[in-house]
Amino acid sequence: MTVRKESGCLTIAVADTGIGMTAKEQSRLFQEFVRIKNDKTRDIPGTGLGLAIVKGIIDLYQGAIRVRSEPGRGTTISLMCKTG
Ligand SMILES: Nc1ncnc2c1ncn2[C@@H]1O[C@H](COP(=O)(O)OP(=O)(O)OP(=O)(O)O)[C@@H](O)[C@H]1O
Ligand SMILES: [Mg+2]
Repeated sequence: MTVRKESGCLTIAVADTGIGMTAKEQSRLFQEFVRIKNDKTRDIPGTGLGLAIVKGIIDLYQGAIRVRSEPGRGTTISLMCKTG
C-alpha cells in the first residue's frame, strides 16, 4: 500500500500481482454483490460488497476511486481525496 499527498490530494493505492481483470469485468466492480465469475475466481470466497462499500465511503468524501488491472498481471486500486 502506498500513501501520497500532493497538491492537496491524498492518494492511497493498494496493488497486487494477482489474477487481474479484463476491462469488461472492471466495469461492474463497484456494484453491490457483483462477483466476477471465471475459472480463476471459482474457489475464491467473498460477498461482492467490499468495493461497493469502499466506493460509498469515498463518495461521501467527494473523492474518487480508480482501478488499473490487467488479466494475469495484477490490480491497483487507488483512492483519491482532497485534503483540507
Ligand atoms: N484485487 C483484485 N484482483 C482481481 N479481482 C478482484 C480484485 N478485487 C476484487 N476483484 C473482483 O471483484 C469482485 C468484487 O470485489 P469486492 O471486493 O467488491 O467483493 P468480494 O471480494 O467478492 O467480497 P468481499 O470483499 O465483500 O469479501 C470480486 O469478487 C473479484 O472477482
Ligand atoms: Mg473484496
